Amino acid sequence: MMLLVQMMRGTAMHAGSRWSRSVERLISSGRDINSSAHHFSGFGEACTLSCGHGDQTKVLITGGLGQLGIGLAKLLRRRFGKNNVILSDIRKPPSHVYDDGPFIFSDILDFKNLREIVVNNNISWLIHYSAVLSAVGENNIALAKEVNITGFHNILDVATEHGLRVFVPSTIGAFGPSSPRDPTPELCVQRPQTIYGVSKVHAELMGEYYHHRYGLDFRCLRYPGILSADSQPGGGTTDYAVQLFHAALKTGHFECYLRGDTQLPMMYIDDCVRATLEFLEVPTDSLPSRTYNINAMAFTPQELTQEIQKVLPDLKVTYNVDPLRQAIADGWPKALEDSSARRDWGWKHEYNLPELVQTMLALITQGKQMAEAC
Ligand SMILES: NC(=O)c1ccc[n+]([C@@H]2O[C@H](COP(=O)([O-])OP(=O)(O)OC[C@H]3O[C@@H](n4cnc5c(N)ncnc54)[C@H](O)[C@@H]3O)[C@@H](O)[C@H]2O)c1
Repeated sequence: MMLLVQMMRGTAMHAGSRWSRSVERLISSGRDINSSAHHFSGFGEACTLSCGHGDQTKVLITGGLGQLGIGLAKLLRRRFGKNNVILSDIRKPPSHVYDDGPFIFSDILDFKNLREIVVNNNISWLIHYSAVLSAVGENNIALAKEVNITGFHNILDVATEHGLRVFVPSTIGAFGPSSPRDPTPELCVQRPQTIYGVSKVHAELMGEYYHHRYGLDFRCLRYPGILSADSQPGGGTTDYAVQLFHAALKTGHFECYLRGDTQLPMMYIDDCVRATLEFLEVPTDSLPSRTYNINAMAFTPQELTQEIQKVLPDLKVTYNVDPLRQAIADGWPKALEDSSARRDWGWKHEYNLPELVQTMLALITQGKQMAEAC
């Protein structure tokens, strides 16, 4: 029966709205369906029952070879078992990632390929990390539109068709110069001026609409800029912060593409992936909202430099401002207001600037030593 409901929903998704409405009425009526061992009364409940409660949670991560996917997969594999978390991307993985757990090819622009993966692997959670980030997107708008909007539609459709819990990260880039910037509340004017930001607002709105219309278990966190020691950022505006650490340890000099007083919200990757898992584990009925801001710290390049100089006093940072990325940063929040996440599902960050600096320096040094020893 579950399969029938899912197939009907899937068919309705791709068919005209008249058919879609009649399928919805049939499912909502409870005819047929009440005879099942489960009790269904509508789209929302059907979705809840197939989202992993009682069953083994099986996770697919798209765009998993970027800055965040590998770290998230490590955490989720500890939680659900190595073989229950599949990383996917359109690129070939490095051997340590290939050897670490299931990895498959998945192009989010190919709906059939996505559907096949979800069905063959009995996926219950879909974590959608594929994206073209802010700076890369401004230089290739057609690609950003295709991946961030067309690809995202495939994700929404496959998740709705198969009753998945779907997580899509949004960003501080979903706000713009007309949003209140210090701090930026959860609900406010969102008029971003990048294709990346526009596509993320689109994702937030479409996801919430599918939740309201079809009961899709859509979840979204607006991440700040994320810092990680062992994975490189993929072309965003906050990348300078990770680059500064590597340069500090390698040459002792960094040329920063943002002005020294540009304050942006930031977070260490461990907090980011833990927030994602904790948010995904909240029972669907306990979530009053579907899109949340999460915040940890905010700093400028100057403040980050000063904190690193406490350990590496000879570090020199010069400034050669890139007008494209400076203009993007000037329209983004200086800090995020995240009291709803703290109240509704207990979000709490662990890393402030001093802990971040100590951890990043220690891990990058350790990574360099291991690479030299090999
Ligand atoms: N890293 C950050 O600081 C940050 C901040 C806010 C939000 N986010 C969001 O988090 C998510 C992950 O970010 P990230 O930094 O790991 O991104 P990234 O740019 O490092 O990685 C994105 C991945 O998507 C893959 N990809 C591109 N086209 C694809 C396609 N057609 N099909 C499948 N995969 C494709 C790329 O190969 C790449 O590995 C993104 O949605 C991003 O918008 C990241």
